[in-house]
Amino acid sequence: MTAPDPMPTTLEPTLPRPLRVGIVGCGNVAGPYARSIAAHDEVMLVAAADVDPVRATAFAAEHGVRAHETLEALLADPEVELVVNLTVHHAHFAVTRQALEAGRHVYSEKPMALDADEAHQLVELAQRQGVRLACAPSTFLGDAQQTVGAIIRGGELGPVRAIYADVNWGRIETWHPAPIPFYEVGVLVDVGVYPLTIATAFLGPALAIEARGWELMLDRVTTGGERYQIGSPDLIIAAVELAGGAVMRLTGSFYVGRPIRQPGRMEFHGDLASVALSSFQDFDATVERGPVGGAFEPAPLVREPYHGIDWGRGVADLARAIAEGRRQRVTGEHAAHVVDILSAARRSMSEALRIEIESTFEPPPLMAWASGPERP
Ligand SMILES: NC(=O)c1ccc[n+]([C@@H]2O[C@H](COP(=O)([O-])OP(=O)(O)OC[C@H]3O[C@@H](n4cnc5c(N)ncnc54)[C@H](O)[C@@H]3O)[C@@H](O)[C@H]2O)c1
Repeated sequence: MTAPDPMPTTLEPTLPRPLRVGIVGCGNVAGPYARSIAAHDEVMLVAAADVDPVRATAFAAEHGVRAHETLEALLADPEVELVVNLTVHHAHFAVTRQALEAGRHVYSEKPMALDADEAHQLVELAQRQGVRLACAPSTFLGDAQQTVGAIIRGGELGPVRAIYADVNWGRIETWHPAPIPFYEVGVLVDVGVYPLTIATAFLGPALAIEARGWELMLDRVTTGGERYQIGSPDLIIAAVELAGGAVMRLTGSFYVGRPIRQPGRMEFHGDLASVALSSFQDFDATVERGPVGGAFEPAPLVREPYHGIDWGRGVADLARAIAEGRRQRVTGEHAAHVVDILSAARRSMSEALRIEIESTFEPPPLMAWASGPERP
């Protein structure tokens, strides 16, 4: 059942030239992106911008690229072909729309937009403009995550009917200097997107969701001493029905975090066997599998993993896809579908109803190195 994959296997040919990248939003995650982009031959960082020009200047100096005072200036830079949107959640839609309107390819951090209609508008705009649109998370391209994908698509679990996923992300204000936007959008929008994207990448679109949320710890304080109240539930339990028949139990929390054994664990249970992933985001997570009624045993990964999170892997796949004239694995359609699930979860929580999800998308093929004969 492994999807056909047009990409070359282990030795990927060097592209004629790297795609030139401009980063918008030079905050917390921009450094890890810049370092990852520098390690991928398919892409080259050339410019950066931020609403705070001081940040853009410092970031650009650190990474040896041009700083632009505004997004408009970055979009007027003829060298920038792909905009990587690393702004805060609330700014994603406007920044991505402006970049697409300027005829640039866009890779955005998640969520693609906060509103489902806006997410679909972006997909249509990219199509009209003849440019590519992609959106994080691309962690389903991780080595451990692709191993799970290969096991599922290889058929050894039989039909998968139950998925358990946990996102116990704890109290953001203990480590992030600007936590308030994270609580405004909530735990499913900020981190629930990871297991939702992985499950739908491997098993296809969602059909409906029922969710309930609780505000357990309303009053919080930033590291700078600012007091605020959370704007969304800090514990959410959701049941997501996939069109293929599986039901996913998704628990997300901005209250429960470490200490916890595996804050981002996912398990896929089938008629014949089960597979467990210790983390939805670490590319070197452990994978275990076991037959029904048996015990979990370690499963070898499809290849030597990247240690941690390779933030630019989806950006590099996008650049390679453009050069090869194929569809990229991380698509705007998939991201818009995930935004639909998030919107449906919000409605389900406020109306106490099961909400159906109408959009769909084409699940991506595995990476070539995960779908070859050496597959576990
Ligand atoms: N921090 C992480 O570990 C992490 C991990 C994965 C994904 N993300 C995602 O990355 C995005 C950014 O997160 P972060 O932690 O880097 O946030 P951050 O607040 O540290 O940085 C965001 C930056 O965007 C800038 N910005 C805001 N609006 C802008 C606009 N309209 N135009 C240009 N710049 C603008 C801000 O000035 C700031 O420098 C979020 O969507 C988040 O979900 C973050």
